Amino acid sequence: MSLLITDIGELTTNDPELGILRGAALVVDGDRVAWVGPAAGAPAADERLDVRGAAVLPGFVDSHSHLVFAGDRAPEFAARMAGEPYTGGGIRTTVAATRAATDDQLRTNVARLVGEALRQGTTTIEIKSGYGLSTLDEARSVRIAAEFTDEVTFLGAHVKPADGADGYVDEVTGPMLDACAKYAGWVDVFCERGAFDVAESRRVLQAGIAAGLRPRIHANQLTMGGGVQLAVELDCASADHCTHLSPADVDALANSNTVATLLPGAEFSTRAPWPDARRLLAAGVTVALATDCNPGSSYTSSMPFCIALAVRDMKMTPTEAVWSATKGGALALRRLDLGHLAPGASADLIVLDAPSHLHLAYRPGVPLINKVIRKGTFLTQ
Ligand code: NIG
Ligand code: FE
Repeated sequence: MSLLITDIGELTTNDPELGILRGAALVVDGDRVAWVGPAAGAPAADERLDVRGAAVLPGFVDSHSHLVFAGDRAPEFAARMAGEPYTGGGIRTTVAATRAATDDQLRTNVARLVGEALRQGTTTIEIKSGYGLSTLDEARSVRIAAEFTDEVTFLGAHVKPADGADGYVDEVTGPMLDACAKYAGWVDVFCERGAFDVAESRRVLQAGIAAGLRPRIHANQLTMGGGVQLAVELDCASADHCTHLSPADVDALANSNTVATLLPGAEFSTRAPWPDARRLLAAGVTVALATDCNPGSSYTSSMPFCIALAVRDMKMTPTEAVWSATKGGALALRRLDLGHLAPGASADLIVLDAPSHLHLAYRPGVPLINKVIRKGTFLTQ
């Protein structure tokens, strides 16, 4: 079955040759993009959708979320807005709630959040474990995550559990990894003071790599530690947060294949300083944007919200922010089929209730996602 989408006012292709097209059309064949070009020259297709001048862009690729959890931490958020600092200590509150939840309660919560994200244009979402912190609870977290996405990340090394910090890295790199590896494609670690130091983080990531997982890392979120350097050393697909970077960190990223994934929802919700996106972009670093959706530091599933923050507060242009939320996220997951709209790409796209991608930042908080197509199938009407 093929579908012609025509009268596209502005088509963001993220393709270096095609760029941003006006008066465009696009043909979807099965789950792939088959043709892109001027509307006047479009080939026939089985079905036709006239979007009447609307903007079309690739679906958002949210490359960083923590959706397997129970409960929330609204009082902790309120206390922060009244001046309390964010330390990551609240993670253990969510661990207790998550352990107490049934599989179905966790599944229902993931489904709710994936649905929210989808309605806001996210067609691919990475989901991490990390609120189980025992072999049993981490294994069920990655198993449930795998019911919702192909991009599952094992984050057993989120923090050390209150009830067993000693020997925890041995557990993560031994029995826990054994139980989780079959459900996950990625291994992650929170490399931070109070979580895992650089040596421990290296052990966790190397064990994951030995088990066939690919590495990514929470780096330099709260302090200027060695996480980014470790990311580059191990060729992590992505170093996430990058809130506190030294000049050497920026240089290292610029000379690597590691994407810097910025998570402005976390800075918004923790009142942390904004990551210096302009410094990264000026150095030639590949920048992605993601939500970090979790009940502690960033309880948003909205990529448009993150785009608006990136533009307003991190001084990215709207075009850069949209690229980072689509192609940047795809590169952070090393997915060459996602984040762009050219023949052969996955037919993951969104139709806006707006004539241009600029409106995503220009009209913050407004539900502008009119249609979402994933692998050639309409997900919302
Ligand atoms: O990416 N920093 C570590 N993990 C999450 C926060 C988790 C939480 O506070 O529950 C993050 O911000
Ligand atoms: Fe995170």
